[in-house]
Amino acid sequence: MLLQERLTQKIPAWREKVQFLRKEKAEVVIDHVHVRQVFGGMRGLKVLVSDISFVDPYKGIHFRGYTIPEILELLPKPGAGKMPYVGGLYWLLMTGDLPTEEEALSVEEEWRKRMTLPEWVKQVITAMPKDTHPMTLFSMAILAMQKESAFTRQYHAGLTKTEFWGPTLEDALTLTARIPVVAAFIYRYLYGDGTYIPPDPNLDWGANFAHMMGIDDERYQDLSRLYFILHSDHELGNASAHTAHLVASTLSDLYYAFSAAMNALAGPLHGLANQEALKWLDAAYKRYGGVPTPEQMEEYAWDTLNAGRVIPGFGHAVLRATDPRFKAFYDFGEKHLPEDDYFKMVQVAYEVIPRVLQEHGKAKNPWPNVDAVSGSLQRHFGVEPTFYTVLFGIGRSLGITAHGVWARAMMLPIERPKSLTVQRIEEAIQEAEAAVA
Ligand SMILES: CC(C)(COP(=O)(O)OP(=O)(O)OC[C@H]1O[C@@H](n2cnc3c(N)ncnc32)[C@H](O)[C@@H]1OP(=O)(O)O)[C@@H](O)C(=O)NCCC(=O)NCCS
Repeated sequence: MLLQERLTQKIPAWREKVQFLRKEKAEVVIDHVHVRQVFGGMRGLKVLVSDISFVDPYKGIHFRGYTIPEILELLPKPGAGKMPYVGGLYWLLMTGDLPTEEEALSVEEEWRKRMTLPEWVKQVITAMPKDTHPMTLFSMAILAMQKESAFTRQYHAGLTKTEFWGPTLEDALTLTARIPVVAAFIYRYLYGDGTYIPPDPNLDWGANFAHMMGIDDERYQDLSRLYFILHSDHELGNASAHTAHLVASTLSDLYYAFSAAMNALAGPLHGLANQEALKWLDAAYKRYGGVPTPEQMEEYAWDTLNAGRVIPGFGHAVLRATDPRFKAFYDFGEKHLPEDDYFKMVQVAYEVIPRVLQEHGKAKNPWPNVDAVSGSLQRHFGVEPTFYTVLFGIGRSLGITAHGVWARAMMLPIERPKSLTVQRIEEAIQEAEAAVA
């Protein structure tokens, strides 16, 4: 397998570098912990390491050093003017190198070989009531596949620490191969006509998802590739990636870890925000009987803020500028569906909301994030809003499994930060203040 060969070449040198840093530079201070961070969700605390991606507050996400526009330009594509193969992005995330077309297609081929869904997984899904949220079914279905983990099997048969990454890569490939299949199966169970569409071996990962959803439109194939690439990763500290990292640090396998990550993604402040953002636009559309004017959008935004609610799709914990993922989707909307009313609402919101949030004066970042636009594009193709978080999760499987393989390659230990009592924090504050007095 090409990917395994490339990682076998790369891992020893990287592992040596990490071991050197851990041993020889162990006492170097790179960050201080402030009281605001202890009480404030550890915001900005530099305590994790991963080379898969990095978020610059102003330029946004970099996948292995490449920005979104670079990724969309440089990765191999199925044809001129098309979005890149997701397999190429996965090669980049895993190896750090831009793939050749052959390398991108080798990942697509690995996925093709592994995409058959076990029957019992389908039974787990269809045993559940249809008013179950699709994220619940998604997380359960992933967990239902855990018994197939190569890592867990080989670990119990006897593996040394240096070998852990190999079967973790196996799990990563099988899991990511099946993720779009499982997701489309859930979609058709909950919202379809009860028929299931098997994967087409002639299609790539992104296009196949569109096919299995029953949306045979080349624009939706392209949107799927774009969607999964843009959602693939956002550093290791975000709630879902960090959840997976914590769980896998116990040497739980990637099935356990990714299922747990999806439970974190299901929260309204994280992956559910795309569904919330569309709901918010929907209510505006109903209230004004069509696309609101900029003045109406402003009034609507203030009503939301004055009611003590957040405007979904705006703001970010790390970003301090318009999210480049927003921009990439926005460009797609302008090219493929400029006449769509919901896309037009996104345009009006982009024009008005940042100024409103600035005047409101609370959000550190008044600019749109990826969720402000992604739902409007999915809605155009008839995809149910309650499914949007699953779409996010499909993409996130790429980054999370790549982090997982590399955490094993770097032989990172189990996570165990320290918690303090409020009294201990008060004492620490007194000690610090006495020291400077
Ligand atoms: C993403 C988000 C959770 C980041 O949270 P954060 O790091 O705490 O953000 P900030 O530091 O800017 O928050 C400071 C204040 O501004 C508020 N704020 C931030 N974004 C806001 C928004 N879009 N609308 C209204 N208020 C917002 C926060 O709620 C917070 O208020 P508080 O002091 O009363 O608790 C937040 O911006 C948000 O809730 N956005 C809307 C939901 C969303 O789009 N989520 C998807 C993110 S990819």
